[in-house]
Amino acid sequence: MKKIALVGCGRILDRHIEAIGTARDLEIALVCDTDEAKARQTSERLGVPYVTDYHRIRGVDVAAVLTPSGNHPQHAAEIAECTDTPYVLCEKPISLTLREAYQLFARIDQAGKVLLPVYQNRYNPLVTFTKELIDSGRLGKIHQFICNVLWNRNNDYFKIDWHGTRELDGGVLYTQASHYVDMVHYFFGDVVEHKGIGGSLRGLEVFDSVAAAMSFKSGTVGTINATVSTYRANYRTEFTLIAEKGTLRLAGTNLNTIEFWDVQGLEKPNIDFTLDHVYGKGHDTLYQYIAAARWDMFPSRKDVLSGIRLMEMLSY
Ligand SMILES: NC(=O)c1ccc[n+]([C@@H]2O[C@H](COP(=O)([O-])OP(=O)(O)OC[C@H]3O[C@@H](n4cnc5c(N)ncnc54)[C@H](O)[C@@H]3O)[C@@H](O)[C@H]2O)c1
Repeated sequence: MKKIALVGCGRILDRHIEAIGTARDLEIALVCDTDEAKARQTSERLGVPYVTDYHRIRGVDVAAVLTPSGNHPQHAAEIAECTDTPYVLCEKPISLTLREAYQLFARIDQAGKVLLPVYQNRYNPLVTFTKELIDSGRLGKIHQFICNVLWNRNNDYFKIDWHGTRELDGGVLYTQASHYVDMVHYFFGDVVEHKGIGGSLRGLEVFDSVAAAMSFKSGTVGTINATVSTYRANYRTEFTLIAEKGTLRLAGTNLNTIEFWDVQGLEKPNIDFTLDHVYGKGHDTLYQYIAAARWDMFPSRKDVLSGIRLMEMLSY
């Protein structure tokens, strides 16, 4: 039985609790939040002890860092250095800058620990299937992609302390669209040319809307449009792929449906799934890999660093 500590009892906490519940041989052993009321309430709900200082974590196999994004490098590194926890799981994004990502990996190495970055969309069956399809060559040359993340975060959302700040949030590509930036990086590899143009008409320190165009070593070109400023509610998430031997479009709140399929010699696969929240099902898979000690199922350091590099290039 592997023991997990959850550090940060905010909104993403319940997704982690549910996901841990889907894996056999995992248990939540400790919770932590600097806000004692939140830590205590979570501890009472789960029937486990709490601490308000992560330096006091002891005796767990994995500490999951679920704190505000810009704090991730510091919190993950200090947990690695100051506790006996061998594996430090870190919510996305692991850092807001490439420099901090390098430093984090260096400190984790120095402490002799392992960093497990959360890229749960990589375990989305439609994303996995599309990746295998691209890599298999069955689609031929990939000419172009169009990725749109058209969401709403209302003004109350941006009243929450760290949201919309340069120091802790980073903007729409980091906090909302990071999975999709990661996805195009996962599909197509290293970028050779890029231009990201950001805008914010909402008085935030960061961009709430970004239009980014890029080309990859393979010759594929594409765009990511991301916003948190659609009227009233999330509008859609969509990814269209235009290839020599097929056109396809993934859509749904979390790319959970195939909306268009026309691929040479291949029937549309029946892998759509339903969701009751916007985070996808990937956290379930991720914790199942932890339970099975499949550390190889987490992205490599090189992969994570070049993804953070892409996000930084498109954002600032
Ligand atoms: N993978 C996903 O799909 C996904 C979805 C939502 C959020 N997230 C990420 O999860 C992280 C948390 O997001 P959230 O919406 O839950 O934020 P939140 O503000 O609701 O919660 C953060 C919690 O961390 C606590 N905290 C801050 N500093 C701490 C410290 N030093 N030690 C212990 N606790 C501390 C805060 O008190 C707060 O309770 C963010 O980085 C966000 O990007 C990921």
